[in-house]
Amino acid sequence: MAKTEMVEVATKDELVEDGRKIVAIDGLQIGLFLLEGEVFALENRCVHQGGPICQGKIVGQVLEEIDEKGRSVRMSFSDKDINIACPWHGYEYNIRTGIHPGDSSIRLRTFKTKVEGEKIFVELPVKARSVAV
Ligand code: FES
Repeated sequence: MAKTEMVEVATKDELVEDGRKIVAIDGLQIGLFLLEGEVFALENRCVHQGGPICQGKIVGQVLEEIDEKGRSVRMSFSDKDINIACPWHGYEYNIRTGIHPGDSSIRLRTFKTKVEGEKIFVELPVKARSVAV
């Protein structure tokens, strides 16, 4: 298992709730997202064809209410499950998990995050870190 380290990438005042900031570090582009006060980090590379996923629209998961006869009654947007939609072809991923809501085998690369005071850290492989410095 590759060694990792927590690397400071931003400060909390650079993020806004339900917004994003994209940082470049060690040859990676990483999107930072603030949801309900918690920071999530996704690689800015869609697994479909490499599109800049973190620059896409932030939307609530579409929910469909089905009645007892299997008919669609109404559709709405979740305010709990928040997705990012790829600007190239529309693949969506849950920002908290990086997982496509319709197929859990399709997932973005995610990074652990840590907030210490105002500083935001992302866990990166030590090897990648040393190559770029
Ligand atoms: S590259 Fe993201 S949906 Fe195609």
